[in-house]
Amino acid sequence: MRAAVLEEFGKPLVVQEVDLDEPRAGEVLVRLAACGVCHTDLYTASGADPSGYAPAVLGHEGAGVVEKVGEDVTLVEPGDHVVTLFSPQCGRCVHCLDERTNLCLAIREQQNQGHLPDGTSRISRNGEEIRHFMGTSTFAEYTVIPEIALAKVDPEARLDRACLFACGLSTGLGAAINTAKVAAGSTCVVFGAGMVGLGAVAGCRLQGAERIISVDLAEERLELARGQGATETMAGGEDVVERILESTDGFGADYTFEATGNVAVMRQAVESARMGWGLCTIAGVAGKGETLDIVPRLLITGRRVAGSSFGGVKGREGVPKLVDRWLAGEIDVEPFVSHHIALEDVNRGFELMEEGSGIRSVIGFDGAGERSGT
Ligand SMILES: NC(=O)c1ccc[n+]([C@@H]2O[C@H](COP(=O)([O-])OP(=O)(O)OC[C@H]3O[C@@H](n4cnc5c(N)ncnc54)[C@H](O)[C@@H]3O)[C@@H](O)[C@H]2O)c1
Ligand SMILES: [Zn+2]
Ligand SMILES: [Zn+2]
Repeated sequence: MRAAVLEEFGKPLVVQEVDLDEPRAGEVLVRLAACGVCHTDLYTASGADPSGYAPAVLGHEGAGVVEKVGEDVTLVEPGDHVVTLFSPQCGRCVHCLDERTNLCLAIREQQNQGHLPDGTSRISRNGEEIRHFMGTSTFAEYTVIPEIALAKVDPEARLDRACLFACGLSTGLGAAINTAKVAAGSTCVVFGAGMVGLGAVAGCRLQGAERIISVDLAEERLELARGQGATETMAGGEDVVERILESTDGFGADYTFEATGNVAVMRQAVESARMGWGLCTIAGVAGKGETLDIVPRLLITGRRVAGSSFGGVKGREGVPKLVDRWLAGEIDVEPFVSHHIALEDVNRGFELMEEGSGIRSVIGFDGAGERSGT
């Protein structure tokens, strides 16, 4: 199969033929239809992530069709439409059994090493092992993936849109719906209007928030935020906390969300939360070694801070529900797909992301990958 391989950190991915073994027990062979290009792929490819490894097939925002299942697979069958889950749901571990978290413990260690749960890889080249990435490796025509890392979605859902639910969109929606559990009638502020922040704006709207203030540096992004339900927008900057306090009778917002990955913005998000009960939800991933500064008095006076991984979404149950809400017209995913590219253009997808052009490039695996935009 064709796959985009990270050979060397800081160098472009190399699209090439690699070998893929058959699925073993508990594993599934998926033919990918589409895959989004995300910051986490670039972060790893650049070498900035100290836990990265190579050679590996990157990609984690995949959607496709089940081609074949290994022994003992019960959760999916050939022909099912699926979204890949870098955050799986075994349904049995102590975290899966608890409502409070989505951080499944079943395969974490092997996944972090780039292996499937049995400690080996299915991907190789001339006998040399190539590792999996985030348990998904979806920059490829096919992938072998544990059944617990697949969400079965309505076959009516276009897979080149459904793939967005594999990462950023579910993260943002879930931050508002699951982690913050935004109450109807409340005031929300969302810092960052990329895939995650826009998802959070949409999540606040679905929860019935009355005011949703989107903060970003780029006017085009604020425009997209209005489309997702932001009732107000603000340019980011050093004085943004003051501006938010001014517009909320000096108190701040009931709920704030951070979706930039910048620790200075995280601090602003904490400081924009209301005394008494304001909840700040952090979704952005900070650089290695960076810390978040919080004046403790802000916490004593009732503000709370929460982190959110994959929006607290328990993937196998939660992703199909979010996809259903999209199909029911509650979530508008069209504006998020800015570029359609072929697998060969994956490095172009990284460039577009670095330029801040559009929200998502989506790789199409059927045919040549029609292109729109630049
Ligand atoms: N928690 C998770 O599970 C999870 C999942 C996916 C992504 N993430 C992280 O979420 C963050 C956002 O991801 P994304 O794909 O939306 O990224 P993105 O780069 O598309 O969006 C970030 C936005 O923040 C804006 N921004 C930058 N500085 C700002 C400032 N000072 N004030 C206001 N806005 C500012 C940018 O203009 C941009 O629109 C990243 O850190 C990413 O790694 C986390
Ligand atoms: Zn992602
Ligand atoms: Zn589990």
